Amino acid sequence: MQIVRILLQATALAITGFNAGHVNANETDQGNWPNFGRDGSEQHYSPLGEINLANIGKLGLAWHYDLEPGFSVSSPVKGGNKLFTTTGHSHIRAFEAATGRMLWEFDARVREIAQSPLHMSWGNKGIAWWNDRVFIATTDGRIIALDDKTGKPIWETRQFDLSEVRNSNGAPRVFDGKVIIGHGGADISPIRGYVTAYDAMTGKQLWRFYTVPGDPAQAATNKAERLMRASWKGDWYGKGGGGTAWNAFSYDAQLGLIYLGVGNGFPYNHQLRSPGGGDNLFLASIVAVKADTGEYVWHYQVCPAEQWDCTASQDMTIATLTLDGKPRKVLMQAPKNGFFYVLDAATGEFISAEKFAKVTWAEKIDGETGRPVENPGIRYQDRTELFELWPGPQGAHSWLPQAYSPRTGLVYIPVLEIGALIGPPPANATGFTAGMGVTLLIDADLPGSRRSFLKAWDPVTQKPAWNIELPGDWPGGVLATAGDLVFQGRIDGYLVAYNAKTGEQAWSFKTAGPVVAPPISYSENGRQYVTVLTGNGSQGGGILATGNAAYRTDYALPRRVLTFAIDGTDKLPAFALPALVPPADPDFKADENRVMAGALAFATNACIVCHGMNAIGGGSAPDLRYSPTILQAGDFKAVVKDGILKSRGMPAAPTVSDEVLEDIRHYLRLRAVQEPAEASALKQGAAAPSNRPSARPTSTAM
Ligand code: HEC
Repeated sequence: MQIVRILLQATALAITGFNAGHVNANETDQGNWPNFGRDGSEQHYSPLGEINLANIGKLGLAWHYDLEPGFSVSSPVKGGNKLFTTTGHSHIRAFEAATGRMLWEFDARVREIAQSPLHMSWGNKGIAWWNDRVFIATTDGRIIALDDKTGKPIWETRQFDLSEVRNSNGAPRVFDGKVIIGHGGADISPIRGYVTAYDAMTGKQLWRFYTVPGDPAQAATNKAERLMRASWKGDWYGKGGGGTAWNAFSYDAQLGLIYLGVGNGFPYNHQLRSPGGGDNLFLASIVAVKADTGEYVWHYQVCPAEQWDCTASQDMTIATLTLDGKPRKVLMQAPKNGFFYVLDAATGEFISAEKFAKVTWAEKIDGETGRPVENPGIRYQDRTELFELWPGPQGAHSWLPQAYSPRTGLVYIPVLEIGALIGPPPANATGFTAGMGVTLLIDADLPGSRRSFLKAWDPVTQKPAWNIELPGDWPGGVLATAGDLVFQGRIDGYLVAYNAKTGEQAWSFKTAGPVVAPPISYSENGRQYVTVLTGNGSQGGGILATGNAAYRTDYALPRRVLTFAIDGTDKLPAFALPALVPPADPDFKADENRVMAGALAFATNACIVCHGMNAIGGGSAPDLRYSPTILQAGDFKAVVKDGILKSRGMPAAPTVSDEVLEDIRHYLRLRAVQEPAEASALKQGAAAPSNRPSARPTSTAM
């Protein structure tokens, strides 16, 4: 029997009393890294240059800390003399920044509190530090402020009710004394997205900005609401919506603006969501609001009438560029749709956009109107067959952040080159399928697909300066520094530093597992450090991990906090990769119907989200093809249905019938039996992850 490929017609499981105007002193301290992108500009740039091209050869491990299995793809923050991490499900740790001595830990108990697999499928992307406090947004919707000396909660508030189909995994930002946070969920439910600002001192809600319109039975009370309503048609309210801002926010103190990166619509099918047309604001838009009040100022929509899981939730870099001989403050984004946008940060005026990856949905962005010129036939409603879509819903750029160096003027983008097959929903579509309103094969095995790059982009000329192909298809977040270095992790177990100007490799360090998380840099007692978390998790370690199957990203590989400094002398313990052996199952006979039913149930019960497409694990959870539990009906039921491993991150699935449970187990047994044949080719990459980074960048060809 062929490998059972799961046709994810549905998917998208692809899958979170202070003076206004006060300049945050923490942000101006060059040695700190208080927010996800360091400061409101989200440049992921450290102004420290002690570690530089001249001495990078002496960069060594200063300290390391061993973490438990679980998500470890987040960005740490540094404030005062401490470094803070979030891993697993909102498990926060504080370390002495210089020595790595752990000072306290706080577990937000998400695994106990979570009510749905949605709350446990992704870990936090980051946390924030401000005014001696650490801020977490738990995936189940709580915002918690911790005392940074003790790890004790100061206040806790709820962003949404536990019963709602929302989850929050983005890093909260603290801008202007306010905690800014959004949530996800628009891939699977018709929720109305919003972004909320809380007083960082008290936890009191200050404002909430809705990203799609409200109940038309009630009068529109502000400009944003009037703009939104005019752009939706038909009987959409309650049936469609989305527009969740699950990831990126930026801030410019001088302009007093907070920028929101808004995601896709629900369902993707524009005709079902808004019969009669309309741009459907503010889906797939960048929205600027007043920091004080949350009042609308301007917007720019990257995909009008979005219908390809097109999101503008990617990071938005604020910087001053010299354009036409004059300095201009701009906002730069490389959203999923494959165009690199430069907008005026004060007004939202469109300046330029060019393709930074393979794009088939649009020919170009019209310079006059700032609107895309779509390619014919790209709106799938009238098509009869599946066709290629580039970029697919994973995007040409996911949430892993780009970095910008004001010294080189280049933006360093972790680029994905992954196509998908897309088409109209089947006529008999029900439930899940109807929910997305589209047939989508995100796992399509297309020529040239499942590739990734680190691309240095010149935002003035809108051309690549250099470009490096990376292993796998989950490129790590990027850090740029004033030492003219660019740091990025690799799925095959390296942290690499490049010459920021040329892309030449300057340094690398071999870890015992994948490195996806964005690195940060800080100083303590006058010494500069670079810190990164190793390990995998969340989408790229689960459902989106297909392109990484050749690399060892096992759930059980060591996960660590690694901190580097010049003349660092710490060493990692020796580590041998464990052998991967499927459990012996000589009597197994596959029943095709049960395999199909099991494969479908594996997808619809969210197992696929953590345990991977085609049950190939990527590090979010164990690879079930190697699990002895799949041979024992009783153990399997105890784990999956009764939830005996919930406290370890495996949610219970109490509503799955015993029959369906056995179908899933049958499908997994087949996958284990198929494993040796599949793996013999792939394991080569795994056995020798010393596939060293290339010393020279490839040409600038795109
Ligand atoms: C939110 C992520 C998530 C989802 C969704 C999920 N799992 Fe898990 N699963 C885990 C994690 C994490 C573990 C490892 C727990 C531990 O450390 O013991 C696990 C463990 C298991 C194990 C035991 C593996 C072993 O080591 O022997 C089985 C079997 C399993 N899951 C099956 C399923 C099935 C079937 C589904 C769908 C109904 C599912 N899981 C959904 C995260 C998930």
